[in-house]
Amino acid sequence: MNRARAVVELLAVVLVTGLAVAPGPATAPAVADNGLARTPPMGWNSWNAYGCDIDQDKIRAAVDALVTTGMREAGYRYVAIDDCWQADARTDTGALRADPTRFPDGIKALADHAHAVGLDLGLYATPGTRTCANIYAGYPGRLGSLGHERQDAATFAAWGVDYLKYDWCLAEQDGVDPQAGFTLMRDALAATGRPVVYSVHRQPQQPVDRWRPAVANLWRTTGDISADWGSVLDVLDRQVGLERYSRPGAWNDPDMLEVGNGPLTLAEDRAQFSLWALLNAPLLAGNDLTTMPESVRAVLTNPEVIAVDQDWAGTQGYRVFDDGDHEIWRKPLSGGDSAVVLLNRGTSAATVTATAEQLGFPGVTGFGLHDLWTGQTTTTRAGTISVSVPPHGVVFYRVSPDRG
Ligand code: GAL
Repeated sequence: MNRARAVVELLAVVLVTGLAVAPGPATAPAVADNGLARTPPMGWNSWNAYGCDIDQDKIRAAVDALVTTGMREAGYRYVAIDDCWQADARTDTGALRADPTRFPDGIKALADHAHAVGLDLGLYATPGTRTCANIYAGYPGRLGSLGHERQDAATFAAWGVDYLKYDWCLAEQDGVDPQAGFTLMRDALAATGRPVVYSVHRQPQQPVDRWRPAVANLWRTTGDISADWGSVLDVLDRQVGLERYSRPGAWNDPDMLEVGNGPLTLAEDRAQFSLWALLNAPLLAGNDLTTMPESVRAVLTNPEVIAVDQDWAGTQGYRVFDDGDHEIWRKPLSGGDSAVVLLNRGTSAATVTATAEQLGFPGVTGFGLHDLWTGQTTTTRAGTISVSVPPHGVVFYRVSPDRG
């Protein structure tokens, strides 16, 4: 093939597939055009709290708790049932059905219950022949959607499902191509006519495939998070550089929240919540909402932190400084301010200093600093800010430049 023809053919491929030459907001492929998830989805998912140990009472209780705790009013909308909701075999007609013992009233009853209080229901499925709980925990049944994509999407739509988590789970062993497999379910969902937010987990999670924003509303960027500080930091470290992929309708998903779980302290809970908000991450609580202490509720419902997560000013937040134990993450806000997280990974309090440039305002010397956790506002004319950050914790500021 001569060079000119090769260029023409490459351009044709770019046009037909929607692939851009270089990643980045200006040239990236179109997002999944279902019009959903224009801001990062917020809700609750059963996995981190309960794993496979779920039943309809727990899901109903989560729906009710989202209402009574004020989380619904704070923006939490989806109640997502993760793996282990299924009966161990399909019906005679090949349809999925809920486990009759743990979900005797079926999934539709739960969707109806959620809808009755203004919430939405999420569900879990996989593109191969097996779910992850079948593979890794011996959950009975080969219940993947391979060969049943249209049927399963129609079932979910008929039940009133509003959000689907489609989890890879070794589907390569069934010969599934990731792009084709995830696209098949995207199209099957679209064919139902029901708006369904589409969350995918492809393994390996990185590098982020160029097709993901055009296929899914959100995609996992790491393996599973766990309820310990090291895991939170490990997931965080893997977000560096991914900001170019996310935008309204298509979000990086650094996995669910562990706020309120395991041995995480209040400082660590605030740190995860702050950083996930800065990353425009989906905010999917993963704790037991029925036993949640007020301190945890206050973290999950902090309106100013949630507002950062839901705000889109052209890029998710990204790391601007890292000296090992101390980091600075910044995100531009739509009103012209910066959201700035000062992170202390170490085990003793430390003073972290940010320059005007790191705050996003080179040459500016005066700043208003609104602390999103204490609610206090201070000002400085020093040209930099220096603040004591608690161990395993953050200080989270909305920074306003004073150009006067
Ligand atoms: C994993 C997934 C978890 C959870 C689990 C269920 O692959 O990352 O979030 O969904 O499967 O088995």
